[in-house]
Amino acid sequence: MGIDWEALHTAATSIMRNAYAPYSQFPVGVAGLVDDGRIVTGCNVENASYGLGLCAECGMVSSLAASGGGRLVAVYCVDAEGTALAPCGRCRQLLLEHGGRDLLVMGAEGPVTMAELLPWAFDAQELHERGTAS
Ligand code: THU
Repeated sequence: MGIDWEALHTAATSIMRNAYAPYSQFPVGVAGLVDDGRIVTGCNVENASYGLGLCAECGMVSSLAASGGGRLVAVYCVDAEGTALAPCGRCRQLLLEHGGRDLLVMGAEGPVTMAELLPWAFDAQELHERGTAS
């Protein structure tokens, strides 16, 4: 599947404007291409109890599941200027779960794989190998 990075950037920038970030003043938007061609999006949603804030990627993976699931193929996360933003550590784990090691994430110098962003990652395979997951 060809990846329309421009469409992902447009979707991420658009949803970024819906971010609820009154505490950090750091709005984030993210868009992901799913393996069936649809695009799912998310924005960060903060909370007066600061630690409860939801990253944009959390919203995106919730939308992914809620709209039918599938595998993420490519993800573009942006800041307020529309510049590519590195997903935080927790969000790398979320992205890995739904896109695997080959998922492409737009970086400052072009797309990089999840394998590069999160080397020696803990994933479902680790559970399967130990017989603790079906
Ligand atoms: N944030 C995200 O939404 N995604 C990331 O990957 C990095 C950080 C949000 C969390 C918080 O609302 C704001 O950016 C500042 O950290």
